[in-house]
Amino acid sequence: MQYDFARDMKALLLVGGQGTRLRPLTINQPKSIVPIFNRPFLHYQLDLIKQVPEIDEVILSLNYQPSRIQDVFGDGRDAGIKLRYVVEPTPLGTAGGVKYAARGVEETLVVFNGDVLTQVDLASLIAFHRERRARATIVLTPVDNPTAYGLVETDPAGNILRFLEKPKADEITCNTINAGIYVLEPSTFDRSPDAVAWSIERSFFPSFIERHETFLASIYRDYWIDIGTPEKYMQVHRDIMDGRYAMPPFNGKPGLSWVSPGARVDAGAKVDAPAFIDEGCIVRAGAHVGAHTVLGRGCRVDEGAGVAGSIVWPETHIEREAQVRDVIIGRESHIGRNATIDGGVLGDKSDVAGYSRI
Ligand code: GDD
Ligand code: MG
Repeated sequence: MQYDFARDMKALLLVGGQGTRLRPLTINQPKSIVPIFNRPFLHYQLDLIKQVPEIDEVILSLNYQPSRIQDVFGDGRDAGIKLRYVVEPTPLGTAGGVKYAARGVEETLVVFNGDVLTQVDLASLIAFHRERRARATIVLTPVDNPTAYGLVETDPAGNILRFLEKPKADEITCNTINAGIYVLEPSTFDRSPDAVAWSIERSFFPSFIERHETFLASIYRDYWIDIGTPEKYMQVHRDIMDGRYAMPPFNGKPGLSWVSPGARVDAGAKVDAPAFIDEGCIVRAGAHVGAHTVLGRGCRVDEGAGVAGSIVWPETHIEREAQVRDVIIGRESHIGRNATIDGGVLGDKSDVAGYSRI
């Protein structure tokens, strides 16, 4: 697809939130770098952004635990794109965060909420924005229940008629919501005030409608998820393992078990597909790794232990005869022998005593 103004593009990722709904997984790191299988989440957004060669830099708008993100990505050399970090003095909200981080930027900006996973065609989105000479264009996606999102009404030509953040059940008029991906003209940022928290959803976007500016929607109907709750965080792993969303190492194929060449699964251990067993894991004879389980680097599952439907972060040890089902377990945790855990989320370094029932 052809479009003008090539090179005049930057991306901005809003990654300053505290990730409260994903606690305790976000106690020691921001939501945007929780692992999906074995990669920090933001890698997937950077992969998408890199498909648009005209985007030469990604600005990260940070507030909560900024150094954790900088430690993972550095100057972006390994991720393959130049990164710039801007840390807010206080949380400035989604519009304030954009304005603060984009000071001095004169290029059109592609903005991402730092917790949405999709394969939106960014080049087409940018072309649509430019052809229609929009001030702002946002991606919408249909969902069953819009109450957790920003509801967006449009006309058939794609003009946005109404933006209503977190609608109540009786305010729902359509099923299209804000997917958290925007193309914005930087000349619009000065309408957000400085030094106070300002919301892109509650104040900045409604201003385009009030001012009768060209404010467009592009509807995306393929896979989309916001990973910001434990349920959705678990769901995204299941969707990838079930082939509903194509991503390495499953690549859209359901029913595979991926075992790292650097993992040890002893003869006599049982692994049900689909599963993901990372480097350095040890699954001992008589252990059972059930379907939809993810074992991060260096986990151990001892004889007679069972773990199913669970996401287990690196260096966790599940002792003999313990049974773990539908649980997210943080790093370096220890599940004592004969413990039974059914559902829930355990933070990093959890220590569950043997014979516990949870
Ligand atoms: N820099 C900065 N400063 N970033 C922030 C701040 C802040 O004060 N507050 C939130 N963020 C970042 C979060 O880190 C996250 O990546 C993004 O802004 C969106 O915040 P969420 O807390 O995840 O919002 P939400 O999921 O409830 O709703 C938003 O996303 C939905 C789609 O997933 C809204 O944009 C909805 O309209 C949208 O439908
Ligand atoms: Mg979110």
